[in-house]
Formats: sequence, C-alpha cells, structure tokens
Amino acid sequence: MKEYVVDDKVNYEFLVHRSVFTEQEILKMEQDEIFNKCWLFIGHDSEVPNKGDFHRKKVGGRNLLFTRSSDGEIRALYNSCSHRGALVCRESTGNSKVFRCFYHAWSFNNKGELVGMPGKEAFPETFNCDGAKNLKEVVRLENFRGFYFVNFDDNAMSLEDYLGNAKEYLELIADQSELGMEVLQDPQQYSVRANWKLLAENSVDSYHGMPTHKTYFDIVSTRGGELSKDDLKGVGNDLGNGHGVVEYKAPWGRPVARWIPAWGEDGKKEIDEIKAKLVGKFGEERAERITSFNRNLLIFPNLVINDIMAITIRTFYPIEPGYMEVTGYALAPKGETEQFRHRRNDNFLEFLGPGGFATPDDNEALELCQEGFLNNKEVEWNDISKGMIREQPESNDEEQMRAFWRQWDHVMSKKAGRVHV
Ligand code: FES
Ligand code: FE
Repeated sequence: MKEYVVDDKVNYEFLVHRSVFTEQEILKMEQDEIFNKCWLFIGHDSEVPNKGDFHRKKVGGRNLLFTRSSDGEIRALYNSCSHRGALVCRESTGNSKVFRCFYHAWSFNNKGELVGMPGKEAFPETFNCDGAKNLKEVVRLENFRGFYFVNFDDNAMSLEDYLGNAKEYLELIADQSELGMEVLQDPQQYSVRANWKLLAENSVDSYHGMPTHKTYFDIVSTRGGELSKDDLKGVGNDLGNGHGVVEYKAPWGRPVARWIPAWGEDGKKEIDEIKAKLVGKFGEERAERITSFNRNLLIFPNLVINDIMAITIRTFYPIEPGYMEVTGYALAPKGETEQFRHRRNDNFLEFLGPGGFATPDDNEALELCQEGFLNNKEVEWNDISKGMIREQPESNDEEQMRAFWRQWDHVMSKKAGRVHV
C-alpha cells in the first residue's frame, strides 16, 4: 500500500507525497473519511442573535441553514425541500418565521416544520404525521463557547472531546470581552486554485511570514510596531486530533490590547483600560497572554482561527483537488468603541482581507505550489521537517503542520486498510 506521509522520528524527516494534492481519488476519500466524519465549523452564535435569524451556509459540501428558531434554539437544517429538492431558502441571510419554497410553494417554519402546501386536499390527512416531510435537521450540532460545529456522522465523539487541547486556545479568544464575541457581517468569500490542505498548512505557517509578507512588515515598522529579531518568536505545538497552533509575541498593534505609537495617547488610555479589566478578571499572566501574544489555530480539518492583528475565522472546502472555496469572517469583542472597531477593521482588511497585504500573497504562493506539483510529477515529496530536532518546536518550525498531517494520515490509512505505525 502506498505511503503518503513519512514520519521518520529517527532521522528527523517528515515527508508528504505530492499526489495527495492532485489526485481525484484522494479527494473522494477525504470527503468520505474527513468531511463526512469530522466536526466542521458552521457558525458563531452571534450570527443569529434573534429568533428567526438565519444564514445560508455551505458546510462539508452540503447546503445548510444556520438558524435561531422561534423557540430560541439554534439549529442546522438541510436547505433542500422535502418535496422535490429545491433550495428552500435562496437569501444568504435574513430573519424569517417561514421559508417558502420557490418551486411549488411548500412552506416550512424556522424549526423546519412543514406548515403549508398548496393543494393540501390532494394529500391524505395523515400526510406528514411522522414529520418525515419537515426540513431535515443535522442531528449532531454542538457548540463550544459560541462556536457551533456540525458532524454528519451521528456516532461521532462529542465536540468537546474532539476539540481536546484546542479548547484552551479558543478560550483565550472567547475571553477577550466579558460581553462575548461577535462575528462582523458579511463574510468574505473567494476561491483559490490550490488544494485545500495547502491553506490548512499556510494558515499556521510562520516560516513564510517574513519572505512572503515583507511589504507588510515594512509598513508595520513605520508605525512604531517595534520589529525586532525576536518578534514572531514563540512555540509551535501539536494539540492532538490533528489540531495545531503557533503562539508568538505580536510585533503589531492588537486592539485587544497591545498599543502601538500610531494609535496615539488616546488609544493608549483605552488599551490600558481594556488590559486592566482583563488583569482584574484573569490575573497578570493570562491577561498578558491574551493581549500581547498572537495565536494561529488550526482545528482539523478546515477551521482556522487566527488571533493576530485582528481575528479571522476561516473555513475552506475542496471543489476539485486543485480548487477550493474559502469563507473568511472577522470576529471581534462585543462592546468595543467605535474608534477601536475602526482600528480593528483596518488591521483586518490590511492583512487578512482578500485585498490585503497577506491573503493575495498567500494565495499566490499556494497556486505556485499547486502548479509545481502538477507539472513536475517526478519530484515526489514535500519536506515538512523543520524543527523536528527540537524538543520544543518554535513558531516558525513546522510541528503544527505535522500535527495536521499525522491525523490526515491516520484517518486516511484506516480507510485504505493500512495499519499505521
Ligand atoms: Fe419545494 Fe416543490 S420542490 S415545493
Ligand atoms: Fe501568509
């Protein structure tokens, strides 16, 4: 049986076979073993604050509705009419008591129950007595600190067990405001002509920061973000279950709560207040970690939360081996002042937005990799060994990517009937 991942702990070499980025057969196995069985992020509770709020979501290839029903419960409904299959909801977001299908006008309330159909007299009285004609609901929908995930495998382990050590990092983000966090509307959606796993790697890859994003770092240094050799230094960790993280000191301003001279004395006063509140609640050490450190978190398989100069939630899904669709959200503390929200949005768009200094450069790098794989099949292996020789890998090593690949290989090996050692 073909090996796709070589984890040679004796010779400190970690290799990934490049066919995993190009083969249709691999994508099919990923859909079966990964996207049909892992917990996948669907949305944040702040997206549906009121009864009747809904968002259309594409998760694991499915068309879903993420909605807060009239009973106050958050639900994930399949957006497919129980009559003949049409998308029941065509709006990307809104508030509604009822979803009415465009095709034959069957109507469903926001719990998914069938409440109206033209020509009802042509059906027996017992029609839909068992609820079989209601919109189907995703059985497994669970949340951790307001981050909602679905799993299409009804027998999957609980979300909390799945997240495991990644929970600590989600808490460092969720704790940034006592009022809670909120997703800022609307999401950014774009596509990249590259394999989805390249973006999983890239999102926790500090090694590429300086070379790929040099222009951005030049700008940071002109704003009094003191950029020294030690900035971006920190740790890279395998969190288990395929999750990985890098955590490192911020060279840039963080609206929560690391000041830079470009934000002026007013900004400093406000930052000091935010910090003092966090110290009061969590103590000096944890408050310092929340405010002065960045974290790029990868939750297997396709959720990235980067808490850097702003916070982005990013998910991505493969349409083809060499083509993915990406959705990016900005997350922010509720109750932030207008001026700080403005600074946060500037920070977000400048680096993380699809027209910023980072995202287009990253996408260019990923597309170059994809092209390199396609046209050079004789060059078989990617090297992801950096930092294997260290007991504690650093943030610009590649341990957090190895975490992803170890789980990927574990899951895919089971499918292939190969016992992984
Ligand atoms: Fe929806 Fe017919 S497909 S009412
Ligand atoms: Fe980047």
